[in-house]
Amino acid sequence: MNKRILVSGGAGFIGSHVATELIQAGYDVVVADNMSNCDMTCFQGVQKITGREDIPFVKIDFCDGDSVNKLFSDFQIDAVIHFAAFKAVGESVMEPVKYYKNNLCSFLNVLDAAKTHGGCNVLFSSSATVYGDPDKLPVTEESPRQSAASPYGNTKQICEDILEDTVKATRRFGKSVCPGISNNGPIKGIALRYFNPIGAHPSALIGELPRGVPNNLVPFITQTAIGKRECLSIFGDDYPTPDGTCQRDYIDINDLAKAHVAAVARMLEEKMKEDYEIFNIGTGRPLSVLELVKTFEKVNNLKLNYKFAPRREGDIPAIWADPTLANKELGWKAGRSIEETLESAWAWERHLAEINK
Ligand code: WQD
Repeated sequence: MNKRILVSGGAGFIGSHVATELIQAGYDVVVADNMSNCDMTCFQGVQKITGREDIPFVKIDFCDGDSVNKLFSDFQIDAVIHFAAFKAVGESVMEPVKYYKNNLCSFLNVLDAAKTHGGCNVLFSSSATVYGDPDKLPVTEESPRQSAASPYGNTKQICEDILEDTVKATRRFGKSVCPGISNNGPIKGIALRYFNPIGAHPSALIGELPRGVPNNLVPFITQTAIGKRECLSIFGDDYPTPDGTCQRDYIDINDLAKAHVAAVARMLEEKMKEDYEIFNIGTGRPLSVLELVKTFEKVNNLKLNYKFAPRREGDIPAIWADPTLANKELGWKAGRSIEETLESAWAWERHLAEINK
């Protein structure tokens, strides 16, 4: 009997790539999503890539506790990977209540249901944003979290704490807080702190599908290249970095998805060293905005229309990962080159133009 993984927010950019890798690794997957920030394009892409038309899909509001409970009752869940959350940094500053309510309630409902139904392995989609503007680079999992620069980033920190406290409680008090606790003991949790996920599946059937004007760099680049956007503004060229533009650790979405498969296996095969673990999921390679733009132009043999603009509020000059712990403990390492990643991002944008003709 295959282990079954619930992927909450599984119709989205990261969730759909993770669902694909899980299925190809032999897991059964249930995809659940409220469809607030995506359409069925990526879920249909998962079906095509895996050749599986039978993947259970559940449209659900994760803020409704009864619905989440029913989801766990309907399916025997061995582990849950929680992506379901709002993720636009700028929007979270304008609408903090919407972000705290949605991102915290949905995770609390998932944990409650996991406790009740014994699906006691929880993998949380966290973010390097918890490190704020780090004093020392690269950042390790021991680097201090800094007060979040946005409500979005704060919800990531709060959810990490909620998961850690829940793991500790089930370790200490067992069945009293976790009636459905499985025989293998307390709730176990892993938080994966992603750096900057970019790119698309090599098939060009799934990728990033931002609604409206993209906040993130790479979808703005590909939409400019395809003519949907007039010109890319590079926010700031006067940062204390080699070329004056911000440096980030851009992680290929397919590599990121494989890290989730490795983390799920670690939980289900009882290889965890602690009941709550954190891993940085990055390449360890800093890349500036300008370097990324130039690489995009080179690998796709095109000229991008861009200009330098004032700094964007809230941006930090530089952050990149020390991924040694994930490399060692998860047996995972980012493998795709930035060239392959940017080729796949451009192929995906062209695919979207084709299907939306
Ligand atoms: C990267 C760099 C911009 C757009 C955020 C969240 C993080 C995660 C990923 C959700 C920055 C520059 C961007 C543009 C630009 N979000 N840029 N012109 O801000 O590093 O991280 O997205 O999971 O939690 O914090 O990513 O892609 O927005 O920006 O110059 O039109 O590109 O200034 O230096 P960021 P980003």
